[in-house]
Amino acid sequence: MAHMTTNTTKRIDSLARYHLLGRSGLRVSPLALGTMTFGTEWGWGSPKETAHRLLARYLEAGGNFLDTADGYTGGTSEEFIGDYFAKQGGRDSAVIATKFTINTIPGDPNAGGNGRKNIHRALEASLRRLKTDYVDLYWLHAWDGITPLEEVMQTLTDLVSAGKIRYLGLSDVPAWYFARAQTLAERQGWERVVALQLEYSLLERNIEREHIPAALELGASITPWSPLGSGMLSGKYTREGLTAKGEGRLPAIQGGGNPGLEKLFTERNWRIVDTLLEVSRELDRSPAQVALAWVARRPGVASTIIGATKLEQLEANLHALDVELPPAQAARLEAASRPELVHPYIFFEDTFYSGGMFSGGTSIRAEPTWFRPAAR
Ligand SMILES: NC(=O)c1ccc[n+]([C@@H]2O[C@H](COP(=O)([O-])OP(=O)(O)OC[C@H]3O[C@@H](n4cnc5c(N)ncnc54)[C@H](OP(=O)(O)O)[C@@H]3O)[C@@H](O)[C@H]2O)c1
Repeated sequence: MAHMTTNTTKRIDSLARYHLLGRSGLRVSPLALGTMTFGTEWGWGSPKETAHRLLARYLEAGGNFLDTADGYTGGTSEEFIGDYFAKQGGRDSAVIATKFTINTIPGDPNAGGNGRKNIHRALEASLRRLKTDYVDLYWLHAWDGITPLEEVMQTLTDLVSAGKIRYLGLSDVPAWYFARAQTLAERQGWERVVALQLEYSLLERNIEREHIPAALELGASITPWSPLGSGMLSGKYTREGLTAKGEGRLPAIQGGGNPGLEKLFTERNWRIVDTLLEVSRELDRSPAQVALAWVARRPGVASTIIGATKLEQLEANLHALDVELPPAQAARLEAASRPELVHPYIFFEDTFYSGGMFSGGTSIRAEPTWFRPAAR
């Protein structure tokens, strides 16, 4: 019998401890490598040589899960990944995830969105750039608000049957859309959704209201994106008013008018960064490591999609799961970053239950709810 030889000296044990993705048989490392920064087209990414070094180190350390998209850096991100495996081999050991939805041919209405025509077009183009004949996990990149859900799910189910994709996931969708997709999949015998990809970090916790409970209930995993708030939680920026000053992506993107990025620069977020800096000093760890350790252990999270443009950043981030968060420090991060309690979730708080409003004074709630992390 042939034995698999592995270089264990450079392995990071906490990274090479694989998780199942949703209710599936797919094993992924708890930190995925985000490759939106592969390519310099957007002004804040890495050239090919650096991207390949990052990829090599991630795989060597025991990571197996790569996240890209057809729209990243105009297709360069996928090309870099394809070139790497064409040269180095090992493609079958990697779990390669890519996405469709973003229009890549201006002026062509069917070269974007989630209709069948675009899904097939996008997948063929991704396979060519990735130099492979299958994608391990195919993500709907974002809800287009138009295409019937049945068309999306049936198309993806057919692609699994055709052997072109192994699993499917939904990124940036409303929770109701995922819940309907999963419930219909169970009833219709379609392929189930194995994961949701959503923004999640100490700065952005809104998915705790609907998406995480839905994922836990319906057997999908969460794979957070921008776990460092595009680098804000690395602690390397100083503030000037509400904007960020220093070397890195944030100064390059701020003021660019993208609402998803402009929302970072608030008083509240800078206060969260201040708390994170205090906690990381106390723990003698970098702020990035503490922020990643926090998100990677949240309920429902199977694999956190990290980003890095430098080898030193990647190396530090890959050790994030070695960081333990003692209760006192976890409570401070919780207090600083807890999302506002709004209707109707305010009714599901413990005070209502322990106050006897629903229970009549009896103890009927065996477990604290997932959205009260301080009680965990
Ligand atoms: N589905 C979606 O809609 C969606 C959206 C966004 C991202 N994503 C996925 O999520 C991945 C990660 O997103 P992201 O890059 O925004 O993640 P992030 O973790 O929030 O930001 C990563 C950036 O922070 C800086 N950084 C990282 N580690 C650092 C460290 N230790 N010290 C100092 N700076 C550090 C680097 O930027 P600089 O070196 O430039 O400062 C790095 O590129 C993407 O690659 C993509 O795969 C998905």
